[in-house]
Amino acid sequence: VAKVLWHVTMSLDGFIAGPDDAMDWVFEYPEPNAAVDEVIQKIGAVLAGRRSYDVGKKEDQVEGVTEPYGGAWTGPQFVFTHEPSGAPEDPTVTFLSGDIRDAVATALAAADGKDLVVFGANVARQCLDAGLIDEILVHLAPVLLADGVGLFGSPGTERVDLERTSVAQAGQLTDLRFRVVDGRPSGPGPHRR
Ligand SMILES: NC(=O)c1ccc[n+]([C@@H]2O[C@H](COP(=O)([O-])OP(=O)(O)OC[C@H]3O[C@@H](n4cnc5c(N)ncnc54)[C@H](OP(=O)(O)O)[C@@H]3O)[C@@H](O)[C@H]2O)c1
Repeated sequence: VAKVLWHVTMSLDGFIAGPDDAMDWVFEYPEPNAAVDEVIQKIGAVLAGRRSYDVGKKEDQVEGVTEPYGGAWTGPQFVFTHEPSGAPEDPTVTFLSGDIRDAVATALAAADGKDLVVFGANVARQCLDAGLIDEILVHLAPVLLADGVGLFGSPGTERVDLERTSVAQAGQLTDLRFRVVDGRPSGPGPHRR
């Protein structure tokens, strides 16, 4: 069954980007990672917030790697924005606005039976709060960034229970995978209903 996976690398102090959206630290752990390889095999589409997309296109912020997974995966990418003005240059990219549930449903349909991976924090958190996230994969990096974009930068709307489904080490990264425990009235997985 296709899943919606929030896939993120986080510093020990809870940041997914440093000050000024700094992402250089993410590239300091180049060791092979079985969890990432598995995600790449199963991914059918990506949903990102506009900020993640924009920073991802800035070569100086992402060490010249401007495609998801460094180009190891290609496929439909959806970017959630209030202002979907202008067509994206890349034909695989679609701007979406409106209800987050509709955005996830559209991206899941494009994933065509494979998983949908969500990037960033703000939009991903909205997906979580709407009961749309099935799993969270966090690569915990051994660094304290001190400031930047927090994984959970603002309070959520309600308690979310998780079940840890795997722990692994890949070089200096600790991979933590969680399943969102079903039980909330709102989800998870309304995209499948
Ligand atoms: N460590 C990692 O694994 C990782 C992965 C990806 C990204 N990042 C970093 O995370 C940062 C970006 O994450 P973020 O949490 O700040 O932002 P984000 O979720 O990527 O994007 C936020 C943007 O999404 C749009 N948006 C949000 N809610 C919306 C709604 N209800 N309707 C329509 N559009 C909506 C808005 O764009 P508009 O202003 O255009 O409306 C908003 O500014 C960057 O620094 C990036 O480098 C880190």
